Amino acid sequence: MKTITISANLEVYDSEAELPGDVQNLMKKAIEAREKSYSPYSQFKVGAAILLENGEVVTGSNQENASYPAGLCAERTVIFYAGAKYPGIKMLKMVVTARSENHPVEVPTPPCGSCRQAIAEYEVKQEQPIEIFFMGEKGKVVKAHSISDLLPLIFDNSYL
Ligand code: THU
Repeated sequence: MKTITISANLEVYDSEAELPGDVQNLMKKAIEAREKSYSPYSQFKVGAAILLENGEVVTGSNQENASYPAGLCAERTVIFYAGAKYPGIKMLKMVVTARSENHPVEVPTPPCGSCRQAIAEYEVKQEQPIEIFFMGEKGKVVKAHSISDLLPLIFDNSYL
């Protein structure tokens, strides 16, 4: 028996103002998208923006449903849209922000497990990492260089 250690280096920015200019711009778009969230059940609004290799920015927000599991997170809404509208164009960066109608969200809100798996699919497809930045409604922003830093031991098509 041997032990395998899994580790990741994430970067933490103290605030939006510390982010590189292009990421600040993406964050603004993610905040705009967040405010368009359809989340009457959780009152938890999530917005996401993706910068594509061709310079386009696509955005999305969480979309809930009276049949709860039929709803979709912001990250999958935006990544499926990018995959559908711009097939073959690489995704460079994804930015995510969340706020609640009920309490302050001042800690960075990471993508859920299902969203991590969906993001992993597109990284494998495009053979290039997607940088991921996530924030609450304000405050610190965490950067992962690749989804593999958030989802080690990814299940991908090599196992099929
Ligand atoms: N949500 C997201 O949009 N992204 C995540 O990564 C976590 C959760 C949404 C789903 C649901 O509409 C609400 O937040 C509460 O879970």
